[in-house]
Amino acid sequence: MSTPVKMSLEANKSYHFCTCGKSASTVLCDGSHKGSVFTPKEFSVTESKEYYLCACKKSANAPFCDGSHAK
Ligand code: FES
Repeated sequence: MSTPVKMSLEANKSYHFCTCGKSASTVLCDGSHKGSVFTPKEFSVTESKEYYLCACKKSANAPFCDGSHAK
């Protein structure tokens, strides 16, 4: 079970959520998907604050945690 990663995000900045599960940080793309069928999911937030990002890859609201890791 991978618990969510708490991360401080800035409003209107572009982030890339890892969808392949190979990134060393587990939540943001670090380029490790190269050569696979996966591509990162681009996202941004409207408010600068701390967010819980999904690390288990089961969230229906990715990149944000929806509690699926605990089910
Ligand atoms: S490293 Fe996982 S999508 Fe890029």
